[in-house]
Amino acid sequence: MRTAIIGQGYVGLTIAVGAASAGHQVIGFDVNDALVAQLNASMSHIEGVSGDEISRFIAAGTYLATSDPALLDGSDVIVIAVPTPLDEARNPDLSFVYVASDLIEAHVKSPALIVNESTSYPGTLRKEVAARITVIDHLYASSPERVDPGNTQWGTKNTPRLIGGLTPAAVAKAKEFYESFCDNIIEVSSPEVAEAAKIFENTFRQVNIALVNEFAQIADALGISGREVLDAAATKPYGFMAFNPGPGVGGHCIPVDPSYLAHVANEVGVPATFIKRANEVNLAMPAYVVKRVVAGAGGSINGKKVVVVGVSYKSNVADTRETPAAAVIDLLREQGASVTWHDDLVATWRGEDSSPINGADIAVVVTKHDGVDVNAIKACSYVFDCTSSIAGADGI
Ligand SMILES: NC(=O)c1ccc[n+]([C@@H]2O[C@H](COP(=O)([O-])OP(=O)(O)OC[C@H]3O[C@@H](n4cnc5c(N)ncnc54)[C@H](O)[C@@H]3O)[C@@H](O)[C@H]2O)c1
Repeated sequence: MRTAIIGQGYVGLTIAVGAASAGHQVIGFDVNDALVAQLNASMSHIEGVSGDEISRFIAAGTYLATSDPALLDGSDVIVIAVPTPLDEARNPDLSFVYVASDLIEAHVKSPALIVNESTSYPGTLRKEVAARITVIDHLYASSPERVDPGNTQWGTKNTPRLIGGLTPAAVAKAKEFYESFCDNIIEVSSPEVAEAAKIFENTFRQVNIALVNEFAQIADALGISGREVLDAAATKPYGFMAFNPGPGVGGHCIPVDPSYLAHVANEVGVPATFIKRANEVNLAMPAYVVKRVVAGAGGSINGKKVVVVGVSYKSNVADTRETPAAAVIDLLREQGASVTWHDDLVATWRGEDSSPINGADIAVVVTKHDGVDVNAIKACSYVFDCTSSIAGADGI
């Protein structure tokens, strides 16, 4: 099928490669000209997709990146994979979805299957995408992406894929498309069910992470090891699922998606109390980390050299979106510390470059990537570890 993917970020490029590997003719459309040039030069910007793969598909004529919306026309399938962030007031910002829909309206003159993979609240496909596109009678389906960047066990092929369409014809076409590169397709009765399932999955994680973050603080105040308690609880073979405490939540999904659910819940008059409380607990974790660092370092870090190790939101990825490391660094600086950060994967962030670990008085490990120099961390006179992976260190 001639397939256009709108947005060539984590989700869009991953789907582009999946579709190209199944033999579809893929156009990777993105408004970022520099990214388009990079992709056409076979350079990947995400973990999980290699430059070699892109190069192979370009050579075979099954992949082309472009910023020309005219190339969207003539597609059998158009997948929308654009950001769905929060605005300043932490409400859903669907502006990227609107721009993508308007581009389809303006440029696509023959009927296609339009699939939205961007995460959003139930009703988005029907009311915010299909309702904006009036010129042509397209087919519409929702298939929320569940990709977990850096996960080597679960990828596009073997993660079950949800599909909900506005019509049976849309479901049939979406199944035909996704079955060509995904092992397990699960049809649900409406796009709203598919959309809600995705945000509920991430809300489940957000709430449970908040619960374990709060528990870690309770355990510490009780003078027992929260981690040991969690390991003990996890020996129960049923009815318990382990989540790890940490410095907060980051990335495009867990800190963001639940607020989409809270937004629609509010509209229908059901307050999403768990989401609100979980947000508060998770957003307060950087302050808790800094409080513990100050206490552990003897009551003051004023004038101390502190290195924050790992600033991406999770290990072995370079993604710094919504990373709790930002608040940890800012709060450490408010305490008068001289703060640098070390992260070879991120390298440059917020106008600063990654610095060596060596020479710091205090190391605060926010994220631990494979291969980080643990001996250099241990050489600091005080180590606070949010990842529970540095033996003998203080931490959450
Ligand atoms: N990253 C993840 O792990 C993940 C997992 C599941 C779902 N999602 C969801 O998928 C969606 C996309 O997320 P992402 O992580 O791929 O974002 P991303 O920021 O990595 O990529 C989005 C891309 O879309 C481009 N873009 C923005 N507006 C555009 C437009 N009008 N036309 C063409 N391109 C446009 C941007 O330039 C960018 O390259 C979001 O809704 C997100 O919540 C993300």
